[in-house]
Amino acid sequence: MNQTLADKVKSRKTFAIISHPDAGKTTITEQLLLFGGAIRQAGTVKGKKSGKFAKSDWMEIEKQRGISVTSSVMQVDYDGYQINILDTPGHEDFSEDTYRTLMAVDSAVMVIDSGKGIEPQTKKLFKVCRMRGIPIFTFINKMDRDGREPMDLIAELEEVLEIDAYPMNWPMGMGKNLLGLYDIYNNRVELTHPEDNGDNDFLPLNENGEIEGDYAIKKSTIYTQAVEDVQLLKEAGNTFSEDAIAAGELTPVFFGSALTGFGVQTFLDAFVDFAPNPSAHVTEADETIEPTSEELTGFIFKIQANMNPAHRDRIAFVRICSGEFKPGMDVFINRTGKKIKLAHTTQFMADSREQVETAVAGDIIGLYDTGNFQIGDTIYEGKKAVQFEALPQFTPELFMKVTPKNVMKQKSFHKGVQQLVQEGAIQLYKTYHTEDYILGAVGQLQFEVFQYRLLHEYNAEVEMTPMGSKIARWIEPEDLDPNMSSSRNLLCRDRFDNPVFLFENQFALRWFEDKYPNVKLTALL
Ligand code: G4P
Repeated sequence: MNQTLADKVKSRKTFAIISHPDAGKTTITEQLLLFGGAIRQAGTVKGKKSGKFAKSDWMEIEKQRGISVTSSVMQVDYDGYQINILDTPGHEDFSEDTYRTLMAVDSAVMVIDSGKGIEPQTKKLFKVCRMRGIPIFTFINKMDRDGREPMDLIAELEEVLEIDAYPMNWPMGMGKNLLGLYDIYNNRVELTHPEDNGDNDFLPLNENGEIEGDYAIKKSTIYTQAVEDVQLLKEAGNTFSEDAIAAGELTPVFFGSALTGFGVQTFLDAFVDFAPNPSAHVTEADETIEPTSEELTGFIFKIQANMNPAHRDRIAFVRICSGEFKPGMDVFINRTGKKIKLAHTTQFMADSREQVETAVAGDIIGLYDTGNFQIGDTIYEGKKAVQFEALPQFTPELFMKVTPKNVMKQKSFHKGVQQLVQEGAIQLYKTYHTEDYILGAVGQLQFEVFQYRLLHEYNAEVEMTPMGSKIARWIEPEDLDPNMSSSRNLLCRDRFDNPVFLFENQFALRWFEDKYPNVKLTALL
């Protein structure tokens, strides 16, 4: 049967899983791939053990994986949907790319370790999702272990992340005593160990919210407690609202165990019900491009350099926003006006060397790039030029001083720095008076990639001096008095010449704010 473009778009669900390292992102991804037929999954889900390599080994890992796009996008068929899961690397792979990936999804799944609650990286990634107003689904993981009280976890989620939570189900016990899930949304109880009188993984609930019939579990205090908790949630908790979920104001919360698979399918079924289809995108000219609009448009949110010196090529990741991609078609890059044929050079994933036959809004394609693309570029097929709104910049947290090792190579050093900065690989600052180069990043890996690429692509060796983590805050130029600079902060300019202070720590920032109460300091995202 020939599907129309609208049908295809409706079947797409594109999301990222956000979590702090070790919360269980890989394990749940594997479960999701198992439930669906994985259509394309290059390599393993992630270099699963990559977190255990020493930092200096990362280039070796890249080589082993071929190229680290191997796990960047996974496609799964489930219940008539094509689900695109975008990886957001944690561990030492964490970088601005991780944040930018969140610009290319329509929803996010937040995985939380029930023993740990909200952890720093989850908070950072959540903030970016929140800023976009995309729906966020919460999976509280590791219920097969003793963790924190569910009520505490919900309260913490609401307080720390400032979002309303709605439990879709409620755990009946935890750890060894996890009897099952009281499934509020589906009005049933899902048992961890079905009782032996028949096929009863799922027991329906009556109008009093109790299991109907004669089951041993009803005598358990754990069950009674769960029924009471749910009563309390129904009376005092948030009300379920599909609109609030769609607006990213209410997060549906699911409990489960990725490791044992318990609760994962229940989560997935509700997820495909409520996760949005590909959304419309707004252009710089304030036009809205609908995903079902006929002409192909898309934007580049990530460029993955191939670290293998034998191949200078890169992969540019495009989020398709409208139209339909077909191999061999011509597109324009808005920034340069250049026309490019998306022919044999277009591959979904470098590792499998698989050719994409078709792709529509919500899908991600990887374009083989020899230097034509930059992050934030819009591609379009039609006669009319399209430029989507710029991708946001993120506040870097780690800084390095950088100088060329060889003064004779100044020119290639500057060229390389400018290009990598433009590409979005790293951020550049200059000290206010002496114009020393300072690099800013959100993850350590960005520095290593920078150093490596400068050497291999621009033949410039660099000296890097770590400055550690700093808090960057921008100041309005008219508020700036260079005497505000002290030993606890460093005054710089960003690449657009805007003044910015790099504070040593929270204390130094607060000291500054107390001293200059009328000065407004701002952060990027
Ligand atoms: P990440 O991608 O978020 O970093 O986490 P990952 O899935 O790799 O999981 C981190 C650790 O937590 C793994 O154990 C994994 O087996 C465990 N884990 C994930 N989900 C659950 C769960 O539902 N219950 C329990 N009990 N453990 C879970 P590891 O020992 O670090 O890794 P491995 O050597 O077993 O692979």
